[in-house]
Parts: sequence; C-alpha cells; structure tokens
Amino acid sequence: MTSSNIQNILLTGGAGYIGSHTAVALSQTGHRIFIFDNFCNSDRGAVKRIEAIIGRPIVVIEGDLRDTALLTQTLQTHQINAVVHFAGLKAVGESNRIPVEYYANNVQGTISLLQAMQKADNHPKTFVFSSSATVYGDPKYLPIDEAHPLAATNPYGRTKHHIEEILGDLAKSDPAWRIACLRYFNPVGAHDSGLIGENPNGIPNNLMPFVAQVAVGKLAQLSVYGDDYDTPDGTGVRDYIHVMDLAEGHVAALNYLTTHDGFHVFNLGTGRGYSVLEMVKAFEAASGKSVPYKIVPRRAGDIATSYASVAYATAELNWHAKRNLKDMCESGWKFQHMTAKSS
Ligand code: NAD
Ligand code: WQD
Repeated sequence: MTSSNIQNILLTGGAGYIGSHTAVALSQTGHRIFIFDNFCNSDRGAVKRIEAIIGRPIVVIEGDLRDTALLTQTLQTHQINAVVHFAGLKAVGESNRIPVEYYANNVQGTISLLQAMQKADNHPKTFVFSSSATVYGDPKYLPIDEAHPLAATNPYGRTKHHIEEILGDLAKSDPAWRIACLRYFNPVGAHDSGLIGENPNGIPNNLMPFVAQVAVGKLAQLSVYGDDYDTPDGTGVRDYIHVMDLAEGHVAALNYLTTHDGFHVFNLGTGRGYSVLEMVKAFEAASGKSVPYKIVPRRAGDIATSYASVAYATAELNWHAKRNLKDMCESGWKFQHMTAKSS
C-alpha cells in the first residue's frame, strides 16, 4: 500500500466480533482506524485487546448510530474518507420478537449514518456495508451467487435487504458514491493471538460459539438441530469462513472502491460447506476436548444447505479465503480458553 492509499476509516460497530478483526486487518495494512460503537453488544475490553495486537491506541467514539449530529461531528473531526458499517443487531430469533427495534436500529441507524455522511463538510462517499447471506432466504440453487433472488425469511434479514436497496438507490442518485455490500456467509474463528474473538452474551445462538462453550465446560452439551436433512450425514451444511479471511475481504473491498465507483455486491465465503457433525469433530480435534451432543428436532426456519459462489469476489476483489477448517477451530479454541472463558 502506498501512502496515497492510506485512508482515515470509521468502523461503526468496530468493537464487535467482525469489526474488531477488521480493525486489526485495516490497521496492519496502514490505514488509520476510528471506532464508533454504543457497546450494546461489546465492551471497551475488546478495544484494549485490539490496541494490544496493533501496538497503538485507537480513537473510540461512544455513541448510537441514530445520533446523526455526533456522527457528523465525528466524520469531520477525524477527516474520515471511508466508512465500514458493521453496527447492527443480528439475532434472527430476537428479530422475530422485537422487529420494530431491529428496523429502528439497523435501517434507521443506517439512514442516520448516510445523512451524517451527506452533511459532513468533507463529504465521505466510500461505504462498505455488512450484509448477510441471510438476504437470500431458502436457496433456489447452489452455490448461491450474487444474482440469486433475495427473499429473507425473518425481520433481521429484511433489514439487510432494505439497507441494500437504500444503498443502491443512493448510488444511482449520485455517481460519486462508492459502495460495496458484503454478504457474509458464516464467520467463525478468531485472531491468532487469542485476544479477540466471538464472545456472545448469554446462551449462544450460533453453532460454533456454542460448541466452544461446551468444549471449555461452560455448557454441558450441544443440541444438534436435526439429522434428517437431505445432506451427507443428515445435519445442516453451511459455508463457514475464518473471521480473519472475512476481515481481509474488507481490506480488498476498500481497495477495490479506490478504483470503482457505483454500487457493488460480493459474497464473502469459502465456496464449500461443512455439516454440523463435521464442525463438531474438527473442533474436538483442535481443542483435544470432547463435545457431547444430542440430536433434537429441527430449528424453525433452518435450511439444509447453504454455500457461496465466490467466483465474483475472487475475480473482482483479487481476494479469496486462505484459512482452512483446522485454522478456524484452533483459533476459536485459543480465544475461548484464553480470553472468553474468564470474561
Ligand atoms: P457484533 O454484535 O459482535 O458487533 C456489532 C457491533 O455494533 C457491537 O459492538 C454493537 O455494540 C454495535 N452496535 C449495534 N447497534 C449499534 C448502534 N445503534 N449504534 C452503535 N453501535 C451499535 O456483531 P458481528 O458478528 O460483529 O456483526 C457485525 C455486522 O455483520 C452486523 O451488521 C451483522 O448483522 C453482520 N453479519 C454478521 C454475521 C455473523 O454471523 N456474525 C453474518 C452476516 C452478517
Ligand atoms: C449453523 C448450523 C444449525 C446451533 C445464522 C443467521 C445468519 C448469519 C449467520 C447474520 C445450522 C446448526 C446451530 C446449535 C445446531 N448471521 N446448529 N445447534 O443459522 O446458518 O446462520 O448466523 O447475518 O443470518 O441465520 O448459523 O450458526 O446458527 O447454525 O445444530 O446450537 O448449525 O441448525 O445447521 P445459520 P448457525
């Protein structure tokens, strides 16, 4: 990276799981990073640990996305050139219970952020958005490419779809905008240091944090949601991607936007799937711990198989996932027993 490419980048939700790893990757590429977070699903300890990894202090602005004035002031004060927008609520089940809060936080929060970008004197117009494979809904074909129809099946997924539409309209209205929507598949694992990783509050909704907490002895056993799917071993198959590969995908997307204006959508996955039982076995091998499980009925809303076509991201972003399943499990285990267990 040449010094002319170095940017001041605001990471909304930068203290969270994916944001913290991306903060490390961007910082180590030479960018100056700034974190805006209300800590509703993270804490300042994560920022301290990012600082320990990168070896320098980070400017943190504590605030809510819906505070347009604070965002405008932040963008101006720090002469922000690009925004990577992670902040949002992300639990599918919760979104069915409190949909209005999901639309308010995710959609209204994004509108507030875009209004701040329009108001700020320096007018930053480079934007990377954390979208999700959940926008596709039930797969009509596999692998899922970016042209697959969008039919999210829950309010959380629909907030992501709405935001993508807003961003598409914005890019059409003003060709100076440079926008990338990154549709993540299933991010897992942690930074090699074991200092940052995924540490959800309460009982984890997602498979791998649950598996890690069983391995470390925090939870007694995993419930496997169904073994009667049309998959090789009957359990659900997903495209798990190492969170550091995902983080590097953001570096690649920002780099791409330096030479491409307009609105772009990329899948970020590995292009291959693993079943629940394969994940359990791999985690047992990485941790040396046993992960007891029982088969229970299917979880409502789950699908059999999901994995990405990564051809477009590979060709356009010059990026692909480099780390394998062993790397995902070993790093996830290191974080679980070194950092998450005690916090
Ligand atoms: P996370 O909850 O760990 O991080 C989100 C961060 O945003 C947290 O630090 C939280 O405090 C902050 N935040 C939430 N609402 C805010 C608000 N109104 N104002 C300021 N800060 C706010 O989640 P994550 O796993 O790191 O996910 C990051 C993004 O990626 C989210 O938008 C999520 O929907 C998306 N995503 C996540 C996954 C996944 O499996 N983890 C998959 C696809 C997409
Ligand atoms: C993976 C597999 C489960 C937990 C979710 C969101 C999606 C995205 C990523 C944000 C499935 C099985 C799980 C458990 C199990 N997030 N499982 N026991 O459902 O693919 O995607 O997270 O955008 O929007 O929907 O991920 O980790 O919950 O499940 O057997 O205790 O593990 O049935 O087959 P999912 P997951």
